[in-house]
Amino acid sequence: MRPETLGLVAALPDDDLPAYIYDLPELREHVRTIRAALPERVELLYAAKANSDPAVLRTLAEHVHGFEVASGGELDHVRAIVPEARIAFGGPGKTQPELTRALDTGTERLHIESEHELRLLTTLLGDRTVDILLRVNLPVDVGRVALTMGGGAFGMDPAQLDRCLEVMDSAPGVRLLGLHFHLASGLQAPSHLQLVDKVSAWAENWARDRGVDLREVNVGGGMGVDYTHPPRVFDWAALGAGLRRILDRHPRLTLRIEPGRSVTAYCGWYVTEVLDIKFSRGHAFAVLRGGTHHLRTPAAKQHDQPFEVIADDIWLRPWNRPEVRDEPVTLVGQLCTPKDVLASRIMVERLRVGDRVAFAMAGAYAWNISHHAFLMHPHPTFHHLDYAGAPDACDTYARQTS
Ligand SMILES: Cc1ncc(COP(=O)(O)O)c(C=O)c1O
Repeated sequence: MRPETLGLVAALPDDDLPAYIYDLPELREHVRTIRAALPERVELLYAAKANSDPAVLRTLAEHVHGFEVASGGELDHVRAIVPEARIAFGGPGKTQPELTRALDTGTERLHIESEHELRLLTTLLGDRTVDILLRVNLPVDVGRVALTMGGGAFGMDPAQLDRCLEVMDSAPGVRLLGLHFHLASGLQAPSHLQLVDKVSAWAENWARDRGVDLREVNVGGGMGVDYTHPPRVFDWAALGAGLRRILDRHPRLTLRIEPGRSVTAYCGWYVTEVLDIKFSRGHAFAVLRGGTHHLRTPAAKQHDQPFEVIADDIWLRPWNRPEVRDEPVTLVGQLCTPKDVLASRIMVERLRVGDRVAFAMAGAYAWNISHHAFLMHPHPTFHHLDYAGAPDACDTYARQTS
């Protein structure tokens, strides 16, 4: 944890816990590193579904080429927060009002998921034009990864693409710029590059055979984040170098990537305190304020969320402070379910009631994928480290109750 973040974690009043802290300078530096690694003709879109916090979006807007959204709600939200941003609208099951809204607000790209969706779009277009990519569900082997999207209800089988070309023959306002693929999540750079190599070669062949002027291939997100080894960050330099080699073989092509998790995971902290320590059948448990209804990431991905203990030496109660020393402890939340586990059997030197615990890597698919309403506990507060990073320079959001 950066000293500035630690300062804020320690300075937060008890009443503000649990709290999310977004370290914006850290995010800025990270996204700059990503951008610097990417060659020309690779455009970086941020997948807003990973974390659409307004300050996070504004910070990223200065460094990314645009944003990928996957619903009308995200479309309106991103448009409101960063009005000038280029937006690509993807995702399955777009409704007629969502497509209309996308057309009305000048969405830069639409990622079309099916022939039906394309037909629906053509009925809404009027005399406008729209740039689209067709999303392909290509049967390629992605190896062992966290999540496979290919073979599911995402995009269309290659055979369906030809039917889409027929539809577009009578819809001149629909301009096909290329193809879109998001086939897996949790890929490291070498496997990501293999995938990009395969799909871009496939896309070129497909386009050449059909006389399509292929200008763009969006290869999706899915860059891996290793929650078991936080310092092992995705190798953006290797990805950038590999993409440059691939682009050399496709001189007219622009590649787009749309990562989410690997961009924002590292800037977020979920900070809380130990409410109770108990031993059950020989195992130590620390019950924390909050839980997976605020930070569902470890439950969703079945991992232990990495954390740091911030000792608080003040203890004013007249009984011995419950603690666990030099033994594994399971960190659970306040929910009435055995699934409310944030980290399981992790060795700690010492953890006491009243100590603070800061969970790292809580900046992506964290608060926004959590089941906030369950048990009606208060929501966390939200804080942003900014500028010099000093706690007094941070932008503190009021307790959110919505
Ligand atoms: C179409 C699409 N693009 C991009 C992403 C972002 O993926 P990640 O956060 O793993 O980089 C997703 C995630 O589900 C997606 O469905």
